[in-house]
Amino acid sequence: MNKTAQNTIPVIAVDGPSASGKGTVAQLVADKLGFGYLDSGALYRVVAFATKQNGIDWHNAEAVAACARKLDIQFKNEQIYLNNTDISELIRTEEMSKGASQVAVHAPLRAALIDLQHKFRQAPGLVADGRDMGTVIFPDAELKIFLTASTETRAERRYKQLLGKGLPANYANILLDLQERDARDKGRASAPLVMAADAILLETDNLTIAEAVNTVLQNFEHKKLNKNCK
Ligand code: CDP
Repeated sequence: MNKTAQNTIPVIAVDGPSASGKGTVAQLVADKLGFGYLDSGALYRVVAFATKQNGIDWHNAEAVAACARKLDIQFKNEQIYLNNTDISELIRTEEMSKGASQVAVHAPLRAALIDLQHKFRQAPGLVADGRDMGTVIFPDAELKIFLTASTETRAERRYKQLLGKGLPANYANILLDLQERDARDKGRASAPLVMAADAILLETDNLTIAEAVNTVLQNFEHKKLNKNCK
């Protein structure tokens, strides 16, 4: 498909900080609409994982980007493969969360991942979740949602999530880690975490997942109706 045709495919951009629930909400919205789903954070996690395996320092912008350009990353049936090996679980550790947020500050790496992300824009539509979906990767997205919650709510969610998986969890450490990652995501020069001017703010402290999903779906319907009337 040529670029012009691809740019008419609807995108719903769901951005926000860590543990705001955007991954869960974005995936459910994609399922409801029969759209594809892009978990852009997983790409930064894969890069953190692969560079660590290759002994590359996460602070070395050029070396990290050069490694990323060579990676064969595939998403198949909700699993992520690196060079044909399923690494879905290996990239979800707290170490890789930290690593992803560290490599994500590098502009050359972010540039290296742009085309790969654009390829996810396939008919009938895409729900893309991350930090810069509405601001940098899909600035023409039909609907932009900025999903957030207080740091305490997000830390509590992450804490319960880890306990639910039978993993060790310490609330104070999780809170500190979220604050560090928020500061890094918001403070970086390249594609910082910021709400797009035309995004809709969705605070999820007092919303269930189903309520957040319905709000996104209603806003999408609303946008479509408005477009038809123009
Ligand atoms: O699960 P969580 O929300 O904590 O993280 P994630 O969405 O898997 O993303 C991991 C890290 O990648 C984040 O802390 C961000 O620093 C970075 N990231 C980014 O810079 N840009 C994106 N579009 C997505 C993630």
